[in-house]
Amino acid sequence: MAGHMSMLPYRCYLLALLAITGAVFTTPATAFVSRKGNQFLRDDGSVFLFNGFNAYWMMIEAASSPSPEASRVSTAFQEAAAAGLSVCRTMAYNDGGEGALQQSPGVYNENVFKALDFVVSEAKNQGFHLIMPLVNNWKDLGGRAQYVQWARAAGANVSTDDDFYTNPTIKQYYKNHVQKVLTRVNTYTNVAYKDDPTIMAWQLMNEPICEADISGRTLTAWIQEMAAYTKSVDNNHLLGTGMYGFYGSSTPDKVQRYNPNAYQLGTDFITAHQVNEIDFSTVHIYPDEWLPKQSEENRTEFMRQYLWSHSNDSMTVLQKPMVVEEFGKSKTIPDYSEQSRNNYYSALYDTIYRIASVSYSLGGGLFWQLFPEGMEKYDDGFGIVLPQNPSVAAIVKKHSDDMRALAGRA
Ligand SMILES: *[C@@H]1O[C@H](CO)[C@@H](O)[C@H](O)[C@H]1NC(C)=O
Ligand SMILES: *[C@@H]1O[C@H](CO)[C@@H](O)[C@H](O)[C@H]1NC(C)=O
Ligand SMILES: *[C@@H]1O[C@H](CO)[C@@H](O)[C@H](O)[C@H]1NC(C)=O
Repeated sequence: MAGHMSMLPYRCYLLALLAITGAVFTTPATAFVSRKGNQFLRDDGSVFLFNGFNAYWMMIEAASSPSPEASRVSTAFQEAAAAGLSVCRTMAYNDGGEGALQQSPGVYNENVFKALDFVVSEAKNQGFHLIMPLVNNWKDLGGRAQYVQWARAAGANVSTDDDFYTNPTIKQYYKNHVQKVLTRVNTYTNVAYKDDPTIMAWQLMNEPICEADISGRTLTAWIQEMAAYTKSVDNNHLLGTGMYGFYGSSTPDKVQRYNPNAYQLGTDFITAHQVNEIDFSTVHIYPDEWLPKQSEENRTEFMRQYLWSHSNDSMTVLQKPMVVEEFGKSKTIPDYSEQSRNNYYSALYDTIYRIASVSYSLGGGLFWQLFPEGMEKYDDGFGIVLPQNPSVAAIVKKHSDDMRALAGRA
């Protein structure tokens, strides 16, 4: 091997030498979004603050169109880019049945995988970063219940859907899925997902809860095991939990004070995000749904307290950055108006901006959810079609600009 060194062209040799001694190079850019303490960093090492959106439907739309290219995925990214958005959260799961990504344990639909490839490739082409959850807590697109059903059909001893977190057969199915997605080589870009900086972060589950153990211990143990496994497959990417952020038994005072109606759903914001392999904390916030009898003003105040309390904990106790991963205003609530949606978005963005200004540890918020025109059938009431809703689009755009400017001053 030593003989080869002398065969290297001189320039190459010099570069190799410099790299070894570290004499000239400063920290090399990793190309991946990373984190340092409680801040997200861009690939050039500067602080990363962003504005973003949810679009769970992208793979499904790309797979069910005549071709992924003919789908509305590209339009969605274009309309998001026009509003200054730069992070998109979209699902890397669809479990069970004909049109699914994972039709049965370990059996994948190649056409659907190609559709996901297209989503990742199009995000890259249009300058977006993706956050991608790997399974759903809810039954939509299969989820935890589908895994449990698969295991039951295979003869495993399972009773409730909460066995998802403890049954060895199910845990292995989940790990297999993680392995399959993370090592997927994108047919558009020829880059393995685990090596693709377009992806900002993986997420263990969308909104995990575990009502069989409201203390949060069962769920935190699952997060510990699966986070370690995920990082063993892919150590390039950040990893999140996907949690609502409800406090658990490690902070009973905060359960009383900040959980809606002091309810416990088997999650513990603190212990779950203390897991070493988890890089950032998440909250999802829906005061209209959680506190339907409260006044609009009180629901907005609840939102402010929830975000401050969780981001304070993230900054100081966890010392990790945070993402407000889901929020929105549904057209189906009794006192809905376009003005009330605008007011809520403005108040929430203002809160994010104020928190981010303290120590840049709140990366940004992702509204639920963005649709391009012609996708009404997917709308659950929360949908925003930016070109059709210029007043909210202007609020979104202003916040994108504000966050970018704030990051520039970091
Ligand atoms: C099935 O699981 C339950 C609860 O974990 C346990 O009590 C029971 O003994 C198990 N049955 C078998 C056949 O393993
Ligand atoms: C709003 O919050 C205040 C202060 O906590 C409380 O006294 C009041 O009852 C609430 N009103 C409604 C309608 O929720
Ligand atoms: C968060 O921390 C700030 C100080 O940085 C404090 O003023 C505020 O009361 C805290 N809020 C909550 C809800 O913990």
